[in-house]
Amino acid sequence: MILAAQLSDTHFDLTPRNTERVERVMAYLADLPRRPDVILVTGDITDSGKPEQYAEARLALRADIPVCLLPGNHDDRTTFRTELLGEPASDAPINSVHRVGPLTVLMLDSSVPGEPGGLLAEETHAWLADALAEAPDGPILIALHHPPRPVASPVVDVIALAEPARLAAVVAGDPRVIGVLTGHAHSPIATTFAGKPMITCPSTASVLGGEWEVTLPHKVMDYAPDPAVALHVIDETNTLTTHFRTVAMGGWLAEPPI
Ligand SMILES: [Fe+2]
Ligand SMILES: [Fe+2]
Repeated sequence: MILAAQLSDTHFDLTPRNTERVERVMAYLADLPRRPDVILVTGDITDSGKPEQYAEARLALRADIPVCLLPGNHDDRTTFRTELLGEPASDAPINSVHRVGPLTVLMLDSSVPGEPGGLLAEETHAWLADALAEAPDGPILIALHHPPRPVASPVVDVIALAEPARLAAVVAGDPRVIGVLTGHAHSPIATTFAGKPMITCPSTASVLGGEWEVTLPHKVMDYAPDPAVALHVIDETNTLTTHFRTVAMGGWLAEPPI
């Protein structure tokens, strides 16, 4: 069994609140009797791409197991690279491949600089084709920030992944791909994409309502719920099973609630 934890939309914003919520989730994962093999963080790591916000993220996301990082629409590719990954400055897409035992995780940068919506750049499509060609004959998870299909979210569905058909063809056409993981929607969501499971990880920072609960423009984001994390199990049949856990803040707040 492989256990992959997923955090998303941490939105580090230089306030203690969002940092403490991530610290609680990381402590929860560190204390599990059977610890995850890998931690995936699927974008909107910072709220506005500032170097100081990435410094917060670098500290709070430290772990002694691999932590794999993906940008979202709130991130800045160049600062993400220099401050979080320790790489030279570049605004090229941040795509990465990670091997976890027999599992391959392909993380695709769906962000578009300056835009809230997502799109896979031509070079990302080419990178994905090469990565699949080189991947071993084991299960593959594809992770990207923007959901490639609607998720009944009036806020997110209008800024989801554009032109998803090419990705759908890849997902449907490769029997090794066992699922697609996303962030962006700030809600735990299970659906399908191209005939495979598509799981959207909750945010550690807040919850975005669905069509049945959002009342634009005032009632959109709920900051009351505790932070949450997704725990993906990949078993010996290469089936993806996902549990979601909220991590109680325990009434312990650094700032009085508003
Ligand atoms: Fe977000
Ligand atoms: Fe986002």
